[in-house]
Amino acid sequence: MKACVACSAVFAAVLVSWTAVSAQIPGMVQPKHYPWSDASLSPDQRADMVIRQMTLDEKIQLLHGPGWQALFAPQESGPLTRAISVLGFIPGVPRLGIPDLQMTDSNQGVSGAGVKGRYATALPSGEAMAAAWDPALSYEIGTMIGHELRAMGFNMSLGSGINMIREPRDGRTFEYKGEDPLLAGTLSGQELKAEKALHLITDVKHYAVNDQDAGRIVVNAIIDKRAMRESDLLAFQIALKDSGAGAVMCSYNRINGTYACENPYTLTDVLKKDFGFKGFVVSDWGGTQSTVNAAMAGLDIEMPGNDSFGEPLKKAVEAGQVPMERLNDMVHRILRTEFDSGVVDDPPQPESPDVMRGFEVAQKTEEQGAVLLKNAGNVLPLSAASIRSIAVIGGHADVGVMSGGGSSQVSPAGGNPVPPSPELLKNPLASFFLVAVYHRSAPLKGIEEKAPHAEVHFDPGTDPAAAAALASKSQVAIVFAVQHESEGMDLENLSLPENQDALIEAVAAANPHTIVVLESGGAVLMPWLDKVAGVVEAWYPGIRGSQAIANLLFGDVNPSGKLPLTFPKSEADLPHPIHLGPPKPDADHPVPKLAGAPGMIGMAMGIGPFFDVDYDEGLKVGYKWYDAEQKPVLFPFGFGLAYTTFAYSGLSVMPGESTTVSFTVKNTGRRAGIETAQVYASIPDSAGEPPKRLVGWTKVELGPGQSKQVEIPVLRDRLSVFDEASDSWKLVPGQYILRVGGSSRDLPLEKTISY
Ligand code: BGC
Repeated sequence: MKACVACSAVFAAVLVSWTAVSAQIPGMVQPKHYPWSDASLSPDQRADMVIRQMTLDEKIQLLHGPGWQALFAPQESGPLTRAISVLGFIPGVPRLGIPDLQMTDSNQGVSGAGVKGRYATALPSGEAMAAAWDPALSYEIGTMIGHELRAMGFNMSLGSGINMIREPRDGRTFEYKGEDPLLAGTLSGQELKAEKALHLITDVKHYAVNDQDAGRIVVNAIIDKRAMRESDLLAFQIALKDSGAGAVMCSYNRINGTYACENPYTLTDVLKKDFGFKGFVVSDWGGTQSTVNAAMAGLDIEMPGNDSFGEPLKKAVEAGQVPMERLNDMVHRILRTEFDSGVVDDPPQPESPDVMRGFEVAQKTEEQGAVLLKNAGNVLPLSAASIRSIAVIGGHADVGVMSGGGSSQVSPAGGNPVPPSPELLKNPLASFFLVAVYHRSAPLKGIEEKAPHAEVHFDPGTDPAAAAALASKSQVAIVFAVQHESEGMDLENLSLPENQDALIEAVAAANPHTIVVLESGGAVLMPWLDKVAGVVEAWYPGIRGSQAIANLLFGDVNPSGKLPLTFPKSEADLPHPIHLGPPKPDADHPVPKLAGAPGMIGMAMGIGPFFDVDYDEGLKVGYKWYDAEQKPVLFPFGFGLAYTTFAYSGLSVMPGESTTVSFTVKNTGRRAGIETAQVYASIPDSAGEPPKRLVGWTKVELGPGQSKQVEIPVLRDRLSVFDEASDSWKLVPGQYILRVGGSSRDLPLEKTISY
């Protein structure tokens, strides 16, 4: 091959210009040597060295976003031109080599990339991730998200979300990881650990007791300390310990009368002192309500505004209301996190996202996270060889799969295939919250590809009689039922909207082989459950939903997902059957003047008169409520079927610093499958705990007829209770029953031990 001189010249020119371009890439600080560049020094030493060089203005600049006005007025010059997204930007201090913070949401993939014409992988929702009960998968998810964040130039993620689903009608249920602190904390911890390993600042949110979006900025969550410590805050504690996450986002709501972003108990006493958290606290967007109170309570960054931590904070420092020591602590926390995470030493380098890796992770998550809830007469899996006709009905299954909305929305590649009505578009909140966005991964196509010998017909499901007519002519009817959830608005109830219950009833009456595939954020009610043959909970399935759902329906993948939250029989069974929102304003309930988000964004925050929600169920959150109240449920926490069955035997329990629980799981069916074996503990009666809590689990992959002995370590902390009087965790002396099985309500093995 001849060397091409002209080509080399062109190549060299391209390289030079690329270097020039990359020098201007947002967030990239050109390498230069500073005394604190020495990576052998500790992050704390490096941070202190920088602080000594900083002016008061430079310190203040690190503690707030660009201001609300900046979001609406495009900037033509100045540091904001470096922002990938002004909404998530804090300029660094170039003269000291301190990079800009470039943040974006990343709860179900990197959100909003489409605004800049970029692509990001749309993962299944948080509940789907949780339903996989798979820490190793969560780590893979974190790695995938981390690579895509870096590819776009972001150095800080705004996820993962944890909340105990005290209010299952919360419009953000889909973002969270179920109703158990050990499950949610462990999975978020792995996801964030993986992102941190890629040199990103990671964040866990929304701290804390942020259980509803209806009136999220005016709601006061009332809850006792023990309940919080043993559930809501414990989930964060586990995630932080496992991940070393750099940031915690405080939530909009008040907790026991004090805003979460200015709450000394949750922010300083618990998070910074007791958990030993060394990173920084960032407010949810528009969630900062004061300057001195917030700074002194433990808030470190106001986002995305500067109304409290801009000029007012500077004045408060000058007036001595916020001591310089605290200001330096705020700055130290940010800088030490930047060094600790690696964003200073290894800034992100822009590249094309690895689309294929994203596909793999998205599909695997859906395949492991979908939950088979009912399979009467083994209607599933469908036989590709013998099936001749299939009716696919509803849920826009001909064009895509639904996704959850709001700040975590991943831009739909190729646009939303289900255009919103012109009526809906008149609402100013439409684009951000109300419009149901679908990803172009059509289940109809996946089903057609699996069943080449079958007639596959689609009916939109808008007319139950027409859908039933198609179903009656088909061997099998598959109804796709959707329930849209979005940030900023709660569900009115847990029923499927828009006449879908009637649609399912009509189809089931016409065809005994009716299978319902649910695309929902969390639990839904199923008045038709007895009439259908099969139910699959697919959550929001992500960009490979079509392939994953088809693989599950046709048995190429044996379902293994288990519910991370309880499906109740009716809303009357919830701890709070009535879902409270802000009361109507009147003389006794005026609309408060709040700091934080103005205008349209304020509306989305649900501004209205203040109101209380009393979480008096306390420790009895999620399945613990239904157990304690002895309420039957539709499907319990931890439940999920497979196309095979499993048997449990031979439990032995070795007490010790870490209790070892071992037992045998056998695949008693004819297909290979994966079982999630769960261990629950009943704490001695004198402790006043709910009947049982999850203390460990493991996933066991078994061929047909195969058995495996498994061992699950149960840490002493998992058996302890929080004693408010001494403000500490205690192991209550007495008898502990360890129970083992395949769901919280199917625990065939048990053994009692004493401590
Ligand atoms: C959400 C946060 C999100 C932030 C930035 C807020 O509305 O509550 O979860 O991280 O916006 O997009």
